Amino acid sequence: MLDPLSPTAAVQRPSTVQSQAWMDRARINLLQNYKQQPVVLERGQGTRVWDADGREYLDLLGGIATLPFGHCHPEITAAAKAQLDKLWHVSNVFYSEPQIALAEKLLQLSGLDRAFFCNSGAEANEALLKMARKAQKDRGQTERVEFICFERSFHGRTLATVTATGQPKYQKGFEPLPPGFLHVPYGDFEAVRRVVGPRTAAILVEPIQGEGGVHPAPEGFLVALRALCDKEGLFLLVDEVQTGLGRTGVDFAFQRAGIRPDGFSLAKGLANGLPIGAMVCTEEAGHALVPGTHGSTFGGNPVTAAAALATLTLASQPAQLASNRSKGEYFLTALRTLQAELPGQVAAVRGQGLLLGVELAFDAGPIVGRMREQGVLCNLAGERTIRFAPAYLVTHEEMDRGVLALRRALTAGASSDFRPAI
Ligand SMILES: Cc1ncc(COP(=O)(O)O)c(C=O)c1O
Repeated sequence: MLDPLSPTAAVQRPSTVQSQAWMDRARINLLQNYKQQPVVLERGQGTRVWDADGREYLDLLGGIATLPFGHCHPEITAAAKAQLDKLWHVSNVFYSEPQIALAEKLLQLSGLDRAFFCNSGAEANEALLKMARKAQKDRGQTERVEFICFERSFHGRTLATVTATGQPKYQKGFEPLPPGFLHVPYGDFEAVRRVVGPRTAAILVEPIQGEGGVHPAPEGFLVALRALCDKEGLFLLVDEVQTGLGRTGVDFAFQRAGIRPDGFSLAKGLANGLPIGAMVCTEEAGHALVPGTHGSTFGGNPVTAAAALATLTLASQPAQLASNRSKGEYFLTALRTLQAELPGQVAAVRGQGLLLGVELAFDAGPIVGRMREQGVLCNLAGERTIRFAPAYLVTHEEMDRGVLALRRALTAGASSDFRPAI
């Protein structure tokens, strides 16, 4: 049998001439604000991508959770293409059908009342924050302007959302940051209770901290936050940008806790790779954003909305959600077996459904590189955590292949270039 990680089985190794030429041009022409992996990806199908030199990779990152149904899924592609031939864009000066149908589907699945569309996760979170402040003012609670957020969180890169983000490394150099954002340790309900006061407007929380290293909320945390918000008259805002769309095995991760937020944000996988964001909210909170208070030129664009409706229709099938849960369990178990084999290297394995993180006992950057050399793509969440967010189409064999690549990358660690950070 062929070794699944051998060059002949999956990864051919022709010259890197094409890739190198593109990377040289990128270095000259693109803003140097990313630290890209040295791969130029040219095409994709399902869970596979090919680089400019024809090498094939197994994509276990899925565009950082933006591709629930993998690359170029035929039904979603057909929905977008049909809309491309019909109507590209009209702006929100007019109504257009796809965004109305998409809103209906989101409300049906979430049990909330109103949807607003934008283009990214940061924008969707920005809408949540603006809505909460305005809704408190409309209630006569003009002092309630502050947000309680969490350490290690990630909410986006605009000035407000990077301030909500609980990681100083993303904020450094952009001071002065807008006032009104407090941070407390994630999962520490007592700490939240201590900082709630007459100026608090809302709590913003991720059900699983994705960028922060794939940390699920402790049992009971979201329920406790909901009860606190009800008691104190605060809005509970849930950031589902990374966790929504069935990735954790339920439509939206807050449903696992059985709560109803006042608003939640979506983006990433909603249109299976086309740019879109959404804020979904209750009537009471959303009522605050009357005409003129908020908007987005491209929000609800017909093509992305058509792709999103096709994605959501597939993602919300009960069989799909069950499959995500069972595949997630399989992957988690395999990664935990690896942890038991290599306890000195694998510090923790965390996650829900198909959003998983493997925390190493050292800087995980070189390990991601070693996995890529074996034809498997993933990335870091934090410095030490390898993140897997594959397409829901991922097979058991592909998950095995990912674990095998990780095992080999870790055990190659005996070599001299392998330097544990502690
Ligand atoms: C939980 C969460 N919120 C918000 C964002 C920001 O989304 P975007 O990059 O689309 O603005 C991200 C992106 O990684 C995220 O993971």
